[in-house]
Amino acid sequence: MRIFGGLIGMALACAASLTACAPHAPSSEKDALPHFVTQNGRHAFIVDGQPFLMLGAQANNSSNYPSALPKVWPAVEALHANTLEIPVAWEQIEPSEGQFDFSYVDTLVAQAREHNVRLVLLWFGAYKNTGPNYAPGWVKVNNQRFPRMMDASGGIVYALSPHIQATLDADSRAFAALMRHVRSIDGALHTVIMVQVENETGVYGPVRDFSPAAQALFDAQAPAALLAALHKPPGTWTQVFGRDADEFFAAWHMARYVEQVAQAGHREYALPMYANAALRDPVNYQDPHSFASGGPTWDVIEIWKAAAPTLSVLAPDVYERAYPVASAHFARYTRADNPLMIVEIGNDPAYARYMFAVFGAGGVGFAPFGMDYTGYSNYPLGASAEGEARIAPFAQLFEVMAPVARDWARIAYEHPTWGVAKPDDNADQEIALGDSRWKATVEYDEWAFGFARWNMAHDEPPPNLAKRSGGAMIAQLAPDEYLLIAQNARVSFALKDAGGANGVIFDRVEEGRFERGQWVMDRVWNGDQTDYGLNFSDQPRVLRVKLATY
Ligand code: DGJ
Repeated sequence: MRIFGGLIGMALACAASLTACAPHAPSSEKDALPHFVTQNGRHAFIVDGQPFLMLGAQANNSSNYPSALPKVWPAVEALHANTLEIPVAWEQIEPSEGQFDFSYVDTLVAQAREHNVRLVLLWFGAYKNTGPNYAPGWVKVNNQRFPRMMDASGGIVYALSPHIQATLDADSRAFAALMRHVRSIDGALHTVIMVQVENETGVYGPVRDFSPAAQALFDAQAPAALLAALHKPPGTWTQVFGRDADEFFAAWHMARYVEQVAQAGHREYALPMYANAALRDPVNYQDPHSFASGGPTWDVIEIWKAAAPTLSVLAPDVYERAYPVASAHFARYTRADNPLMIVEIGNDPAYARYMFAVFGAGGVGFAPFGMDYTGYSNYPLGASAEGEARIAPFAQLFEVMAPVARDWARIAYEHPTWGVAKPDDNADQEIALGDSRWKATVEYDEWAFGFARWNMAHDEPPPNLAKRSGGAMIAQLAPDEYLLIAQNARVSFALKDAGGANGVIFDRVEEGRFERGQWVMDRVWNGDQTDYGLNFSDQPRVLRVKLATY
């Protein structure tokens, strides 16, 4: 028994109030700084004292110069993003040792304020996609002072060793100087809300550093702090971790390196910090020679959590269009001890639909990568389209999300939420809606009117079938009441157990928005708009749905 249309039932007040959703006021000094909070396994990113949903844009890698910024802001604006993620390179702030130049950071922060956009700074230090390319010349070509890793045959590899105190000290000093400077120019306004420490750490190829110093550590007992965190008995790395010993050793030491850099910055200015991950296969075993071993991949999240407590988030960089793989990546990083935050996702149109899955899973941020007009495309990883065409599929979603972003974040912190992205095979998706008496079904093979099985269109395929966009996110507001945001889908509701009810009906379906945390109805959906489920086109909508039985 599904709800397809019905009579207008009990009316809701036009400006119904969502209890437990009143905006939080900053109550302490700590609340003034952006930070993460967790309750009942749900997370919120608190900015200005209230939950914040990051609708992000990540700029291209070389957009971190004042001359490039005029090509960044128009894309951020067209996207309706509320946050720009953009690199700050070690080479640009410390071109000569001890000589700091923060002119780019000053320009960036000033322009972000003019554009009313928050910033996430990406510290490209000793590790950028595992390599040292963004380290200043005085670091990256001085192999004596800043040694690289060695492979198992004693060859020098490209990546810097995380076991070298001089590298850690130099990287930490520069990062601390950056954070000190950011505090001095932004400690009151918090235009900068979060900082990424390094970028995609680990190493491709040798799994870990095999230099003599690293080998001595590897042959010794595994650290007691790690063993305690993982509830493992004492022993050497190989004794305790067997097949995984090399990778886990790499992860622990890379995480310790990042933690110490993070701490150095955090002591200067305690903004939330995170690390991003180049990913491994989320389902099947993958030989660590073939991914960035040592980075925060899903199998070493516990190790990173134990080694790097200063990091609030471990964030997956998702560059896999295929629905089962992308979904598995999201699931791996959705944890009670880790807010789901997608700080990088491909900018091909096929990735936009994942916004519904991420926010529906309680995710606190979603940021496509390469969202500027500098004329670079990272196709085939991301989009081939440039300019407006690249931005549009994401902008369509962010435009609708932007006015409700704070409200969704607040609701998702207090209430259960669910979300689905359109699967590649167009299969129906049933959402159990937790322990409520309702379930929802999301379909992609229906017209906005009637049922495709009636074949009124004589075998013409329904419009959503061919699209690689769409999805739905749902928050439960009350036992029979839901907030629903969806695109290119039909969403219908049914009782899990129809026993005892003669039928089900939409009590009320309101399209609307929030004003200062209060729901404001714009119009009621009824008739054709509800007779065949709730049908969404390319234009996403925000609905408040009250369900009833009779
Ligand atoms: C992931 C990295 O984190 C980004 O900086 C960028 O290099 C992309 N891969 C590829 O465009």
